[in-house]
Amino acid sequence: MQDVVAIDVTPLSAACGAEVRGIDLTKPLSAATVQAIKEAWERHLVLVFRGQTLSQDDQLRFASYFGELGDRKKAPEHLRSRAEGSRQDNQKILLVSNIKVDGEAIGAFGEGEFWFHVDGGYTPRPYRYTFLYALELPSTGGNTMFANMYKAYEAVPAALKDKLRGRKALHIHEYNRARQADSSGDISGIPHHFHPVFITHPDTGRKTLFVDRLMTTRIEGLPAEESSAILDQLYEIGERREFIFEHVWRLGDFVMWDNRCTTHARTDFPKDERRLLRRCTVEGEPLYE
Ligand SMILES: [Fe+2]
Repeated sequence: MQDVVAIDVTPLSAACGAEVRGIDLTKPLSAATVQAIKEAWERHLVLVFRGQTLSQDDQLRFASYFGELGDRKKAPEHLRSRAEGSRQDNQKILLVSNIKVDGEAIGAFGEGEFWFHVDGGYTPRPYRYTFLYALELPSTGGNTMFANMYKAYEAVPAALKDKLRGRKALHIHEYNRARQADSSGDISGIPHHFHPVFITHPDTGRKTLFVDRLMTTRIEGLPAEESSAILDQLYEIGERREFIFEHVWRLGDFVMWDNRCTTHARTDFPKDERRLLRRCTVEGEPLYE
């Protein structure tokens, strides 16, 4: 049992993100250590632990200190080949990879750029937390950008906040990474959910902007053109460079983030290079303004 109460936390950008040192995640942690990590997490939104050698069990044990582990979402049959890989054998684990064996993807999310989104944002209970561990990396790119959505909320002009107060937006996902789902017609066969445009973070009580470019496609109750113009404005606010921390992965990095106050995106990387990360999550709850 490790009892590290005074953890070493170094901010990584002015937007969000901090590196935590001095903790070996392969060892069980005391309640005081977990509490210290939680406090750093609430302050910095994204935590990075470098140089870890984590088994799948280590990763799941550590994540379970922060809540009930999330199950992998089951995609509808017609979207399954985009959403799941051939080596997805543990319901709590998602392999994020572009690697193919015998022509079959072993994991999810393939190659290329991935627009800003929230994990599980298209469901009634978006994941509260995500934990991602780097096993194989390309020589360049595939960085993860995290946007601080508390800061984004603060930057929404007051008149627009007034206009959008009480409104919900559609979050919909067809398992594309850099293209929105078409939500103009019948969406009953595509996973989706309506969440408030602004949510109150259940733990901190602070408001965040809960809109992202990939999955948020329509504001309920507004004419299509107006909804689309406002969403463009909100994407732009949510993706301002000064609100973003860009993580450049190294092997052994373990990164954890809070989906209620951040969105994240992936930068492009060479198609012919392997990238493999292991993801697990903590289940979320319904979100309210
Ligand atoms: Fe994601």
